[in-house]
Amino acid sequence: MNVRLFKPSLGIDELKEIEKSFKKSWIGLGPKVSLLEEKWADFVGVKTAIGLNSATAALHLAVKSFNFERGKKILVPSMTFSATACAILYEGLIPVFVDSNFDTLGMDINDLKNKYDKDCVAVMPVHFCGHPVEMEKLIPWAKEKNLKVIEDCAHTTGSLYKGKALGTWGDIGCFSFEEKKLMTTGDGGMIVSNNSKLLKDVKAMRWVGIDKDNWKTAQSYLDVNKDAYHWFYELNILGYKYNMNDLAASIGLVQLKKLPEMNAKRSSIIDKYIVGIKECKTIKPIVPYDTGKYVYQMFGVRTKNKEDLILYLKSKGIATGCHYTPLTMQPLFKPYASKCNIAEQEYEKMITLPLHSDLTNEEVEYVIHHLNKFDSQL
Ligand SMILES: Cc1ncc(COP(=O)(O)O)c(C=O)c1O
Repeated sequence: MNVRLFKPSLGIDELKEIEKSFKKSWIGLGPKVSLLEEKWADFVGVKTAIGLNSATAALHLAVKSFNFERGKKILVPSMTFSATACAILYEGLIPVFVDSNFDTLGMDINDLKNKYDKDCVAVMPVHFCGHPVEMEKLIPWAKEKNLKVIEDCAHTTGSLYKGKALGTWGDIGCFSFEEKKLMTTGDGGMIVSNNSKLLKDVKAMRWVGIDKDNWKTAQSYLDVNKDAYHWFYELNILGYKYNMNDLAASIGLVQLKKLPEMNAKRSSIIDKYIVGIKECKTIKPIVPYDTGKYVYQMFGVRTKNKEDLILYLKSKGIATGCHYTPLTMQPLFKPYASKCNIAEQEYEKMITLPLHSDLTNEEVEYVIHHLNKFDSQL
């Protein structure tokens, strides 16, 4: 048996929605992007959501929208995907790496406070695996220090934390619809905020500086009631080609309908893993999963026998990964590295296991069986 690590759950409904866009022959930035933006804003419970081609673009535009002075610093976890910290470098700012909380592997609030200095202008918490950072501690402290807060929500989809949706605790939230995520558009992302002013330039920034809906412009090409300037736009801002398109949004509209069901399936798989490995002496869940409260994009374990377990699972056809090599250990970020002992020490133990909503019971039982077998042979 071969068990995949991640897999998007796609079907005929997504294809039918794509077909509608084919029939209209409008597959670029269009009305479906707007519709998904509205539905996503509703889903998360936020005033504004803007569709982009990735969370990487969302993180970049989030940092850019504050127009920070170059050379200032942003606090970011070492235990995250490159995109979180790349957004800082894109804008000529300096990443200050914060260590992980031992239990949750999210930003450690004490280390955050230790790493702060007066040149810091923002903090970028990442809800690692989907497990929330202690936002009730982070937000009042960030306010006191006048720091902007950009939440990287790539591993979650609007779970409530202490009654408030993740992605709405900070000034701006960034979501990912890349193919491994809780829902997908192939590649895609959303930037959200309750402060619409903050995102006022994002529509222009995602579309090479043009703050006009081009599909609406196209409707006026032949409109005799319009003046001869239907084509006019003014460039006031440096933009990028970061927009979501209607093909991606077609997939997203269907995926969003399926999301509660897909999330429930993931949660039930995680529950099975947790019960299934509870007798293991050397293999423990990577974070304190609480599937009754939160949704999780990844399931992982910690073990002192990382390499041996990876090789054993490989020999049984079970795919694994490691999320992540701490950024402080990556050559690109070494010039900015500071002490992140927990992240670097725990990374040595971390293995990501198969988790997606199409995993069968048989596959989950098979993985659990082999985790137990490996553990019992030690
Ligand atoms: C924590 C985190 N942030 C940001 C991203 C970037 O997401 P995207 O692939 O949509 O750009 C990822 C993707 O894996 C991620 O895991």
